[in-house]
Amino acid sequence: MSRSVYMIGAGGHAKAVLAALEANDIYPLAIYDDNASKWGSSLFNIPVKGGLEDFAQLGVVSAVTAIGDNAKRQKIAERFTAVDWLTVVHPYSCVHSSVVIGEGTVILEGTIAQPDVTIGRHCIINVESMIGHDCTLEDYVHICGAKLTGNVHLGEGVFLGANTTVHPGIKIGAWSKSAIATAVMRDALPASILIGNPARAMRA
Ligand SMILES: CC(C)(COP(=O)(O)OP(=O)(O)OC[C@H]1O[C@@H](n2cnc3c(N)ncnc32)[C@H](O)[C@@H]1OP(=O)(O)O)[C@@H](O)C(=O)NCCC(=O)NCCS
Repeated sequence: MSRSVYMIGAGGHAKAVLAALEANDIYPLAIYDDNASKWGSSLFNIPVKGGLEDFAQLGVVSAVTAIGDNAKRQKIAERFTAVDWLTVVHPYSCVHSSVVIGEGTVILEGTIAQPDVTIGRHCIINVESMIGHDCTLEDYVHICGAKLTGNVHLGEGVFLGANTTVHPGIKIGAWSKSAIATAVMRDALPASILIGNPARAMRA
């Protein structure tokens, strides 16, 4: 059964989000993206109708974002506060019943979230992420196939590149980023750039 849902973002990540929506039998009516070169095109037969100004004309609707960049996603969420932001969990994931998931968060396939995990609003839990027990992810986090062992804390807007692994109990400060295959063994200050195994902080 389809419900009236719209999507923001028509880039590569949009295809992954559309696949997760399709797996939940949800088919957006239209996509909006400020990149005018995409207007008039379609993704899986869903038309890209216009930009955010056009989306704003829709009024109060249900929607999902497909924007990988955490700061851009935050800006959109804060602009459209009246929107009913969907929480999407791909059915091919294993999320314990005790896990708390904020509005607008999208969990893609192959993710495992163990008991007592808290995931904030407008996060992206990308393909094959593992979130160990008692982890907390604040709003606007994006993790890409990361492995978070138990009790890890990710501050607002943290981005973890593919296959980043985080040692138990570690706290990563807000708006930090990690490169592919980083192993985070120590707490990181806000806005750190973490690279390597063991990770070194490039700044902050
Ligand atoms: C590490 C990373 C997050 C940095 O992002 P960024 O801040 O936008 O990147 P920048 O280009 O500004 O890099 C910041 C610094 O880190 C350095 N750097 C970036 N990636 C590096 C790497 N893998 N190894 C060594 N140095 C690296 C840059 O040279 C730069 O150094 P400088 O400040 O001295 O010039 C990014 O390079 C990265 O690896 N992203 C992961 C991609 C990924 O996994 N995508 C999956 C999508 S689902």
